[in-house]
Amino acid sequence: MAAARTVLLTGSNRGIGLELVKQLLSSPRPPAWIFATCRDPEGTRAQELRDLASKHPNLVLVKLDVANPSAIRDAAKVVEGKLNGMGLNLLINNAGIYTPTATLETANAEDMLSTYKTNAVGPMLMAQAFLPLLKKAAQDSKEKGLSCSKAAIINISTILGSIKKTPDSFFKPVISYRCSKADLTVDTSVRGLLSVLTILSEKHSGTLLNWEGKAIPW
Ligand SMILES: NC(=O)c1ccc[n+]([C@@H]2O[C@H](COP(=O)([O-])OP(=O)(O)OC[C@H]3O[C@@H](n4cnc5c(N)ncnc54)[C@H](OP(=O)(O)O)[C@@H]3O)[C@@H](O)[C@H]2O)c1
Repeated sequence: MAAARTVLLTGSNRGIGLELVKQLLSSPRPPAWIFATCRDPEGTRAQELRDLASKHPNLVLVKLDVANPSAIRDAAKVVEGKLNGMGLNLLINNAGIYTPTATLETANAEDMLSTYKTNAVGPMLMAQAFLPLLKKAAQDSKEKGLSCSKAAIINISTILGSIKKTPDSFFKPVISYRCSKADLTVDTSVRGLLSVLTILSEKHSGTLLNWEGKAIPW
């Protein structure tokens, strides 16, 4: 399968997002454009991203807070201008927030709302704002069926979002969950994630997959 020529990621200044940028840049066929978005491209947290951009002309930093609808619309305009008539093949909704201390006793409305705004509403507004560019990529592609090299939206989720798996994660102490995650490095996780992207097609639409491409029940 061909590689995506134009890719946009959210939350790309650190963690999995930054590693995705690095591995996409060093892939055998790097995208023609990688739009690495983050909340503060000028700030200290984006230094590594800026260093990469200074070495890779195909890497474009775009300011984007996914919890801010007008910032999403502004970013879509910037990306459209840069693409100059091309479409967007791949939108990766990676930005997310996680409050490890939130238990039933301590969770509050403010935390619930801000988490939903970033993790659930943000990806929906991103999909909406970038849909015209994704449609353009799909129309311009000669590929049949769905694929990440044609036009796709990938939402980075978590096994903690699986209702069926809730007993596995809910009753275990959080500490063991953290320790078990320590076995999987960001590098390994992103390598797996990028190889899963290459095999996705219609049959995967709407599914929840892990980093190895194995289905997780909703
Ligand atoms: N790490 C894991 O083991 C794991 C496991 C399963 C799923 N995931 C998922 O993978 C994704 C990335 O996780 P991670 O571990 O790389 O997290 P991370 O290291 O905490 O990084 C989160 C990224 O999201 C950005 N972000 C947060 N709120 C944002 C907003 N409103 N607008 C734009 N960007 C925002 C952060 O930017 P700032 O620097 O500005 O805060 C940062 O770049 C998340 O969706 C997470 O749920 C992670």
